[in-house]
Amino acid sequence: MNNPIGVFDSGVGGLTVVSEIMRQLPGENLVYFGDTARVPYGSKSKNTVLKYSKQIVRFLKTKNVKAIVIACNTASALALDEIAAQLDIPVIGVVKPGAKMAVETTKTGNVGVIGTESTIKSGIYNDYIRELNADITVVSKPCPLFVPLVEEGLLEDRVTDDIVGRYLRVMKEYKVDSLVLGCTHYPLISNAIERFMGKKVNLVNPAFETAKSLKELLTEKEMLNTDKGKPRYEYYVSDGVDKFISFADNVLPYHVTTTQIVDIESY
Ligand code: DGL
Repeated sequence: MNNPIGVFDSGVGGLTVVSEIMRQLPGENLVYFGDTARVPYGSKSKNTVLKYSKQIVRFLKTKNVKAIVIACNTASALALDEIAAQLDIPVIGVVKPGAKMAVETTKTGNVGVIGTESTIKSGIYNDYIRELNADITVVSKPCPLFVPLVEEGLLEDRVTDDIVGRYLRVMKEYKVDSLVLGCTHYPLISNAIERFMGKKVNLVNPAFETAKSLKELLTEKEMLNTDKGKPRYEYYVSDGVDKFISFADNVLPYHVTTTQIVDIESY
């Protein structure tokens, strides 16, 4: 099936998932939507995130997507169930795969989870992790300044190192050995996080496990693209095309030539 896979996020963070999908599923066509006009989602209510997510799904459906990846932890936490119930195509989020990976990698049983305020408040990582292993202690912490730092491109900057230190001190106190980067923006500052936490702490990037689950799902449903041609990648944003392109070029293994603006409020 050569229809594209639709992937969306509140901004550029979902590109960390796109990059992993390109690596694990190199034959698939992709359509990405980044809601750059309305980022951040992490401080917004469930109703708002659900409304935004539904508009994006309606837009992606116009591209005849065969599956949707919600490459945003906040939208996965607050909107996935309702969206999946309304669609007749597979929908996967990033939270469940991330929780599974954390459980598999911890040795001490002390797992840290960082994410946006809404993701942490939803308690969803805690629930999934403890469902898989009730003996694990989960320490969670919202890190609201990380998203604007990433969107501003301050990936290697003293300011970012400072904020990382402030937010993550508690993770050291609780001696976590596995830290879930529970927001798709965070892998972009994993160097700063690793500098503070040290190399012994395993940083869990749910993107890897998400792409793996997507591959398993498409294989099982016999929905993989069997065309041998070069895959097509399309990018759409709700604002700031130039900024998006220069950012995407740094994150993705392929040069992003065109990105189009979508009036997402009209969907
Ligand atoms: N990248 C998103 C996430 O994974 C959302 C960041 C935001 O918009 O606040 O939660």
